[in-house]
Amino acid sequence: MKVIIAKNYAEMSKAAADIIRDLVNSKPNTVLGLATGSTPIGMYKQLIEYYREKSVDFSQVATFNLDEYLGLPGTHPQSYRYFMDNNFFNHINIKKHNTHVPSGIAQDIEAECLSYDKAIAEEGGIDLQVLGIGNNGHIGFNEPSDTLHVNTHVTRLKQDTIMANSRFFNSIEEVPTSAVTMGIGGIMKARQILLLASGPAKAEIISKLVNGKINTHIPASLIQVHPNVTVIIDEEAASLLLKKTNQIDCPLSWAE
Ligand code: GLP
Repeated sequence: MKVIIAKNYAEMSKAAADIIRDLVNSKPNTVLGLATGSTPIGMYKQLIEYYREKSVDFSQVATFNLDEYLGLPGTHPQSYRYFMDNNFFNHINIKKHNTHVPSGIAQDIEAECLSYDKAIAEEGGIDLQVLGIGNNGHIGFNEPSDTLHVNTHVTRLKQDTIMANSRFFNSIEEVPTSAVTMGIGGIMKARQILLLASGPAKAEIISKLVNGKINTHIPASLIQVHPNVTVIIDEEAASLLLKKTNQIDCPLSWAE
């Protein structure tokens, strides 16, 4: 696990976008696993800029998003489909039918979960999965719990997640209480993982993420056993890490 400390949000975003641009340039039909939240917005903006400069081409790329709120149609401004279209897909030359976000309104939600994992497998699996991290350590919507799910599933959101995400809604009552999310197995099957975090509010969870211990109550800690993980954080998110160098080799650096 490689931890890169960027000076600020802009540098974190650029470093992440560079990794994706280089990957897509080396494999034009890359399958990307994508995330929502405020953290990756700068990375999407930088990728849009690279597309406009013609230094990357998304025409053969396929994407699978981590999660979606249960009950929100893709036309709802707080749905993750809407977020992805507006912050990324509408501004690049990706083919819309190659972009996948789980449906939060499928009549048979269990079948939707099964077919989402099947579609990922049929595309040949995810080459690179982008992750943010919740303040409570969630990835996608895999919330802290005694047990975690392997596959895409429906989950109830924790109260602290509902509170954190209420900033995007008019009131806390409007925040959906459940979501569809890729499971930990789906995330771990990606050939490469790129986790981003920025700002002082993420410092505590980042120090718990890279401490060499795995705990299902910090779902993100499981990625420490993945063979190809890059964590890019800004200095504020890195403020509680012991060694303040540009690159930290974590306990599982054997895996690189
Ligand atoms: C949401 C998403 C996560 C995301 C997290 C952090 O709950 N389901 O995928 O990582 O928020 O969001 P932010 O980047 O806004 O801190």
